[in-house]
Amino acid sequence: MNFSFVSGDASLANGELLVIPLFEGELGEGAPAGLVAADSALEGRLRGAATQEGFKAKADQSLVMHTLGRTTAGRVLLLGLGSRARFHPEVLRLAAGRAAKTAQRLKVVSLVVALPVTDAGADAVRAVVEGLELGAYKFDKYKSSAREEKGAKKPVKVSLVLPEGVEKSRDLEDALALGKRVAEAANWARDLVNEPPNAVTPTVLAEAARKSAKEHGLKITIGGQREIEKLRMGMFLGVTAGSTEEPRLIHVEYTPKNARDAKRPPLALVGKAITFDSGGLSLKPTEGMVDMKTDMAGSAAVLGAMQVIAALKPPFPVHAFIGACENMPAGNAYKPGDILTSRLGKTVEITNTDAEGRLVLGDMLTWACEHKPSAVIDLATLTGACIVALGNYIVGAFGDDDDTVNQVLQSARTAGEEMWRLPVSELQKDALRSEVADMKNSGERWGGSINAALFLKEFVGDTPWVHLDIAGPSNSPKERGYLSKGGTGVGVRTLVEWVRLRAQTQGDEVAEAPAKPARQARGAKKSTRG
Ligand code: BES
Ligand code: MN
Ligand code: ZN
Repeated sequence: MNFSFVSGDASLANGELLVIPLFEGELGEGAPAGLVAADSALEGRLRGAATQEGFKAKADQSLVMHTLGRTTAGRVLLLGLGSRARFHPEVLRLAAGRAAKTAQRLKVVSLVVALPVTDAGADAVRAVVEGLELGAYKFDKYKSSAREEKGAKKPVKVSLVLPEGVEKSRDLEDALALGKRVAEAANWARDLVNEPPNAVTPTVLAEAARKSAKEHGLKITIGGQREIEKLRMGMFLGVTAGSTEEPRLIHVEYTPKNARDAKRPPLALVGKAITFDSGGLSLKPTEGMVDMKTDMAGSAAVLGAMQVIAALKPPFPVHAFIGACENMPAGNAYKPGDILTSRLGKTVEITNTDAEGRLVLGDMLTWACEHKPSAVIDLATLTGACIVALGNYIVGAFGDDDDTVNQVLQSARTAGEEMWRLPVSELQKDALRSEVADMKNSGERWGGSINAALFLKEFVGDTPWVHLDIAGPSNSPKERGYLSKGGTGVGVRTLVEWVRLRAQTQGDEVAEAPAKPARQARGAKKSTRG
């Protein structure tokens, strides 16, 4: 998509579809200039039609109307934003997503979007850009019909009409650029999630990571079976044993240019990367297996976020750690009853081979913590229990370090990704007690997500740690706002926001000669508040 800012009367701007977002009750009095102008060009028939059709600008309402040559655009799209009192940029992101999908259905390639008057400033611009880019996403490369159409697809041109009194500024340009980057990274992650498991094997995932790292100027190191053995990652080796696909160990590094910043402790991002989870010998039923190509969504989000982080250039290193493999049944697969020795040295009795994510992640967290990070976060499609608890749209957040957890929750709120904290409570500790080893990998059903988090906690030591269970939100069951059915890229926006937040506070700590990127991040943050 090609974005540009324009000023003046939205109804006169060039484009096939004029998009006008509206708050509830602002169809009459307090109507935005774009609506008033378009309505007067249509001699009052736009508002007339809205009233007749029952359009009240509620948060999920929209209305398309032909203009019969009365405005520059052939059609007007009114987008409901709901109550102004409950406004958050996420509302705008969802609405912009609906606009992109409507434009696609109408086969329209140029849009004029009248930016609403809000106090969100640059954040509103970013939300609109992200919503449009995310909303336009489609995964149809395996559809013969779509493949034939492909050549005809033209890039979409979007004119963003600034509200009266708002000038084009550096802040807005930056928000546009960041929004585009973030959405492109999330869409890149969605592709990886949506690709079938015969296309995205551990090897292919690692190659995608390599290509992405090269393109964004990041260092990447990829290891295979031998390196994993050398690192004595016994849990990872157990999970991968039954697969004919070679496992991959992926380490992506962003290092600041400034020598002093480069020596700071890194931030560590860990992502679950089971490219297919059959359950192993504790085999899943078919219904539970069909979506298990998405069991690498955590790693896709981490790799997507790294693309944006490379451009943000925070004043501290950021490392991604990913262990990619399949979980398959086979004669040489790991078995219930096996005892595995983790990299950390703790022994684990396998009681369910379908609780494989925590095993690979445990070794990855140990490895990540050996790099002495200031904090570590993991993103994982870890438990069905988390979907039972929080549904398909809310991420479960875990961790002992209140400050770090709150920082991530705050970043998620800013980014428009809903998360809810769940306890990593010792009350559940008995669930993982083993008679024969230091612990077992799965216990009672009750509190399944907490038990998984408790297992991971064993491998992070004193490092401030946050665990995000994205089992539900990584895969949308239906089209909604900017989401389509399938991979969502959840986590990319929160990770980017978290790095921005930490860049801001770390920049403030270093009073003398702040590095340029830190200043940039501070400037960007200011616009978040304003
Ligand atoms: N990848 C699954 C979790 C999952 C389920 C993600 C549904 C997305 C949708 C994970 O590896 C798993 O199988 N977890 C088990 C754990 C149990 C055996 C302790 C589960 O949730 O049933
Ligand atoms: Mn599993
Ligand atoms: Zn899994």
